[in-house]
Amino acid sequence: MTRLYTDEVELYDIAFTWDLEDEVSWLLERFGPSCRTVLEPGSGTGRMLEALALRGLAPCGIDSSPAMIAFSRARLSDAGVHAGVMLADMTNFELDARFDAAVCPINTLSHLTEEEFASHLARVAEHVEPGARYLVQVGVFDDDQRPPPNEWEAERDGTALRIEWALVDRDLDARRERHRSRIEVLSGPREGDVFEEVHEMTAWTSSAWRAAIAASPFTQLAAYDGGDRSRPEVELEHSGGLMWHELAAP
Ligand SMILES: C[S@@+](CC[C@H](N)C(=O)[O-])C[C@H]1O[C@@H](n2cnc3c(N)ncnc32)[C@H](O)[C@@H]1O
Repeated sequence: MTRLYTDEVELYDIAFTWDLEDEVSWLLERFGPSCRTVLEPGSGTGRMLEALALRGLAPCGIDSSPAMIAFSRARLSDAGVHAGVMLADMTNFELDARFDAAVCPINTLSHLTEEEFASHLARVAEHVEPGARYLVQVGVFDDDQRPPPNEWEAERDGTALRIEWALVDRDLDARRERHRSRIEVLSGPREGDVFEEVHEMTAWTSSAWRAAIAASPFTQLAAYDGGDRSRPEVELEHSGGLMWHELAAP
């Protein structure tokens, strides 16, 4: 399991907490007006759970990292909102509930192997209402070019971070890619600390993605360019970025 998700949850949360208002409004349009309950597999520190609960929805997150579960429970309690949060593996879970929609942001599903991804979609299909939307954000690339690293800074309560997320390499034949995360603490109690980790992930090509969805219980309705703030709809065959995929349950 990624150390960033088990040992450095606080750093993860500072680095990846940004304003979700616009994204949540867009997601709610996709979920439809009758949506009340939302499942988030891999809910992490609960930033999406909190944003959905603040909109009056009843979200439920599952995550396999106990540290993430503890952090998200504290966050939801501090925010004075309610969301279900459970320790569970998204490739093999059983909840006594069916949801109106589901969401999985920022390439979380690329942490799963193709077999795990297939199991995951089968489990989610068992936990959503017929026709429910599952919005997943997953990168799809048909070439092995390395884009410049993503670099940004984030700050909370005196702890400032410089974050770099870079593709190390992508092997399209083996369908594997490696990413390197680097978080440097610029100020605060841990000033000078540097966290670095290499993440082994699945490399999704457009044809492999289409085949995986076709073999799953879901149908893909649309794809959107997740790297563009206006999230324009793109062809289902589109590749070259982190995209939002709109899936519909049977
Ligand atoms: C990139 S983080 C995303 C967290 C959150 N969805 C967000 O948007 O900030 C990925 C999360 O997925 C969780 N995760 C990875 N593999 C998992 C699995 N097999 N089952 C459940 N959670 C998993 C990690 O613990 C981590 O919290």
